[in-house]
Amino acid sequence: MYKHMLLPTDGSERSDKAADQAIKLAKSMGAALTAIHVTPEYPHFAYEESAVRIPASVKENFYEQSAQLSKKFLDKVTAAAGAAGVQCDAVSVHNVSPCDAIVAQAEKSGCDMIVMASHGRGQLSGLMLGSETTKVLAHSKVPVLVLR
Ligand SMILES: Nc1ncnc2c1ncn2[C@@H]1O[C@H](COP(=O)(O)OP(=O)(O)OP(=O)(O)O)[C@@H](O)[C@H]1O
Ligand SMILES: [Mg+2]
Repeated sequence: MYKHMLLPTDGSERSDKAADQAIKLAKSMGAALTAIHVTPEYPHFAYEESAVRIPASVKENFYEQSAQLSKKFLDKVTAAAGAAGVQCDAVSVHNVSPCDAIVAQAEKSGCDMIVMASHGRGQLSGLMLGSETTKVLAHSKVPVLVLR
């Protein structure tokens, strides 16, 4: 029934565990995956003076390191999917809001389901759900499977 799942990953252990389950599920259903990692926008500073003091190389370095980390997180998922024989492409996007980027990507890629972990890198695992998962559940137009 579901043919194309979007798999958001933040590179955390919890996210990797969810990816393993999502890959098994995709295999059992003959579905394809698109993995997505959302990298943060370079912070905007409230005071012009602070922005002036920050050299351009710092911003370049920030984007370079974000891109490297994003590739590392996504490579883990695509390698695991490849080993399981599941078709999986990967996208890395900049956005201040991971939730907005995830919901937009689901539409752009024509995904019919989003599969993600209940929690990620955050320290407050006592909370029922992480903030991005909560927002994706609230805004997604396609079904969301939350894995624990
Ligand atoms: N930057 C991101 N890019 C892609 N997916 C993300 C990103 N951040 C979170 N996610 C997805 O959301 C899941 C839950 O993470 P979430 O951020 O909601 O909880 P958390 O990190 O435990 O808590 P917090 O609300 O403090 O961030 C992750 O396992 C991952 O699937
Ligand atoms: Mg988080």
